[in-house]
Amino acid sequence: MRCIAAPQQWIQSPCDVLVVAISDQWRNSPLVLELDQATGGFLGKLIDSGEVSTDPNQLTTLYSVLGVAASQLLIVGTGEQQNMPPRVANRAAGAAMKRIATMYRERVRFAGFSGTPIAERAALCGAMVACVGQDLFRQEKSLVQPEYCEWVGVHENNLLKGSVIGESINLTRKLVNMPANYLHPESFVEEIFRSGQQYKFEVEIWDKSKLEEERCGALLGVARGSSCEPRLAIMRYRGGDSTAPPIALVGKGVTFDSGGYSLKPSDSMLTMKCDMAGAATVLGIMQAAAMLNAKCNLVGVVGLVENMISGNAFKLGDVLMARSGKTIEIHNTDAEGRLVLADCLSVALDSQPSKIVDFATLTGACVVALGNDISGAMSNDKEWQSEITSAADEFGEYVWPLPMYDFFSEQIVGKIADIKNVGEGRWGGAITAAKFLQEFVGKTPWTHLDIAGPAFLDSAKAWCDAGGTGTLVRTFAEMLTRDTPEQG
Ligand code: BES
Ligand code: MN
Ligand code: ZN
Repeated sequence: MRCIAAPQQWIQSPCDVLVVAISDQWRNSPLVLELDQATGGFLGKLIDSGEVSTDPNQLTTLYSVLGVAASQLLIVGTGEQQNMPPRVANRAAGAAMKRIATMYRERVRFAGFSGTPIAERAALCGAMVACVGQDLFRQEKSLVQPEYCEWVGVHENNLLKGSVIGESINLTRKLVNMPANYLHPESFVEEIFRSGQQYKFEVEIWDKSKLEEERCGALLGVARGSSCEPRLAIMRYRGGDSTAPPIALVGKGVTFDSGGYSLKPSDSMLTMKCDMAGAATVLGIMQAAAMLNAKCNLVGVVGLVENMISGNAFKLGDVLMARSGKTIEIHNTDAEGRLVLADCLSVALDSQPSKIVDFATLTGACVVALGNDISGAMSNDKEWQSEITSAADEFGEYVWPLPMYDFFSEQIVGKIADIKNVGEGRWGGAITAAKFLQEFVGKTPWTHLDIAGPAFLDSAKAWCDAGGTGTLVRTFAEMLTRDTPEQG
């Protein structure tokens, strides 16, 4: 799908579907008034009578409206505010596009989405995400992208930047949606190479023997049960000052999490192809930053493994030695993400980053705490954490902090090794997991984002298919490409 500017004559020039975003205060919108006039007041009557709803994401299709050249007019409500915040724009555009994409259209046009640059780009991303479904392997797709998507009153820069970010979100979603028999460490690496070659960031791959040489014992321990060999990928993008330290983006890339010998029940295992969402998020952000020439230096580190069972798999009671030298007692082989991340974080530290952020579908406990729509933020640095939570708020995604009081660390003290890989019992499990990770970041400002809830949806939303969501790719792509150049 190509996102382009709409013709000046957006009401009179033909297209398949004309989408119009309409708020409760539509009478203050010159654009909606123009459309109302073109229809001889017909539109206004329908809204006033309640026939057309302006509630958020409510859709009304009108066919062959006199005065409008489009074959159909699709009204999408945006609720109270006349100036749409990014999240409202994202969802309204998504809801409209999801309806449109149920069949093939050549040319669709979106009006009423002009606003702040951030909101305009959020709308583009919403539309781009909404016309791509999770049914990668279905012969007849449930959603099809229109050929052209025209935008009325959206600035050229935002068309470009919004498209780039939307494409990156869809890359992350595609990888999350790929089943584990297609996406394993080796094929994930291919995707990283392809993106790096196309968009010019450096890619370094560590295979099993290099990982052994580097003494990545925690990551290797998890990988042992699988017939797929593990990989660790390092991505480097340089867009900032050549002497400035990079920001490190670290991702959990468990391409399938069976739980290992602490085997998951069938129902919980079913969707565990999504357990590489953190790594896919890092790739999505790297790609967006590179495509947009972000003025910062980045290093991405992702650990790619499959957590399986075999005669060679790691066992309960085993002791693993992480790359940092710390020894870890295995009390639960299903707490594998933190083991993979432990070594990734230590590799990230080699680049002496100014700060680290990691993305991981790390704990069910975080989903219990915050629900399916919110990522948990845990940090050793208030400032870096609030930079992230306020960016998410600004761009319209949900991130909420969880406390990192010292006493949580008492729970992960080991009996025969330095630390153990689970807390005492399951309460506060998202935080004890974060405390484990904190053992591997030294004094570097670090924020851990537990995306176990929002990374993968079991059921569809009005604005997005179920499956991978690409959560936080937009927030970080935006944050790293702010007009005021980022430090780092
Ligand atoms: N990958 C899971 C966490 C997860 C749960 C992701 C639900 C997405 C949706 C992780 O590896 C895991 O199994 N965590 C355990 C930790 C426990 C054994 C301490 C959990 O949350 O139960
Ligand atoms: Mn697990
Ligand atoms: Zn996992």
